[in-house]
Amino acid sequence: MNSTNCQADALAQTDTLLEKFREDVLEGLHSSPKRLPSKYFYDKTGDVLFQRIMASPEYYLTNCELEIFQSKTAELAQTINSVNGDFDLIELGAGDATKSQYLLKYLSEQRAIFTYVPIDISGNILSILETRLKAEITDLDVKCLEGEYFEMLSKAAELSDRRKVVLFLGANIGNMEPQAASVFCRELRARLKPGDLVLMGFDLKKHPKLILDAYSDSAGITSRFNLNLLHRVNKELNGNFDLDQFEHYQNYDPLTGACRSYLVSKIDQEVLVDGQPVHFWQDEIIYMEISQKYDTEEIATMAKQAGFVPIGYHTDSRNWFLDTIWLCVDSY
Ligand code: AVJ
Repeated sequence: MNSTNCQADALAQTDTLLEKFREDVLEGLHSSPKRLPSKYFYDKTGDVLFQRIMASPEYYLTNCELEIFQSKTAELAQTINSVNGDFDLIELGAGDATKSQYLLKYLSEQRAIFTYVPIDISGNILSILETRLKAEITDLDVKCLEGEYFEMLSKAAELSDRRKVVLFLGANIGNMEPQAASVFCRELRARLKPGDLVLMGFDLKKHPKLILDAYSDSAGITSRFNLNLLHRVNKELNGNFDLDQFEHYQNYDPLTGACRSYLVSKIDQEVLVDGQPVHFWQDEIIYMEISQKYDTEEIATMAKQAGFVPIGYHTDSRNWFLDTIWLCVDSY
C-alpha cells in the first residue's frame, strides 16, 4: 500500500471513527461507575504526551523493551527461525517500529525471507514508518495495513500462505482487563495456524512503588495525558469539560496486579457532551485506564489456555519486562 492509499483510506474512515468515539464516550459517561476508554488517548496531542511519558525518568517500560530488542536480537531471531519456512512478520499497533526495527534489521542481514506487515489504526504513522524503514533497511519488503487488529490480521492471512509471526509489543495487552486479555489471546490463536508464532511484551510485577511512580510521574505528564481525553471530547464532541475541575488519581494493587488511572471531579458539576448533560458529584471518578502487571506463571497459564506453548522468554537485565514467544499448537 503506498502513502496516497493510506491517506485516502484515512479520510473514508474518519466519519465512522468519530461516530464510534461519540457512542463509546456517551455510553461510558452514562455508566456507573463512569469510564472512558483509554484507546482514545492517542490523538495528535495524546501521541506527543505519550512520547514524553516514554522519555520520562519514571516510565521504565519502553527502555526495558528497547534493551531486550537491542541486546537479545540474535536470541529472538533464533527462536523465530526455529520454525522452518519463509514468513510474514505482522506487527499489531506498529506505531513507528522503534523496537522492532532492530529485529527487522537483524533478520534481513541474516537473509531471512519475510515480509514485514505493520498494522496500525493511524494511516499517517504507517506512511512515515514505511518511508523510514525502506531507507534504513535495504530490500526490506513492507506491506502496510491500516485498520483494526483482527480485521487486518484476516486480511494479512489472505495475502499469502506463508507462516505468520505476530508481534504485539509494548505491554499493550496490559490495557485489557485480564479476562479480556485471555479472550484476546484465544481470538488471536483462532486466526492463526499450528506452527505460527506470537511475540508478546508483558510488564512484570515488581516493587509497587516503582509501578505507581511510572504512572504518576513527578512532572505531571501522565496527568495531562489523562486530562487530554476530556479536551479531545470538548473538541470533537462539542463538550464543555473544565479541565481544572478534574484531578488525576493513580492506584496500583499488588494483589491483583492492576494499575488503574482515574480522573476525580473536584466539585459537584454538570458537563454537556454533544448536547447531553452529564452530572458529577464532588469526588466522583471516571475510570480511565488499566495497565495490568503479570507474573511469569500467570503469563504461562494465559498462553496455555489460549492454545500456545511458550518457547522463548526474553527479559531485560533488571527482570522488569518480558518478551515471550509462543508457538501455536494443534490440540488445546
Ligand atoms: C502504551 C498501553 C503500554 O499502559 O503502560 C502510559 C500507556 N498510560 N502511561 C501503559 C500508558 C499511562 C501504556 N501502554
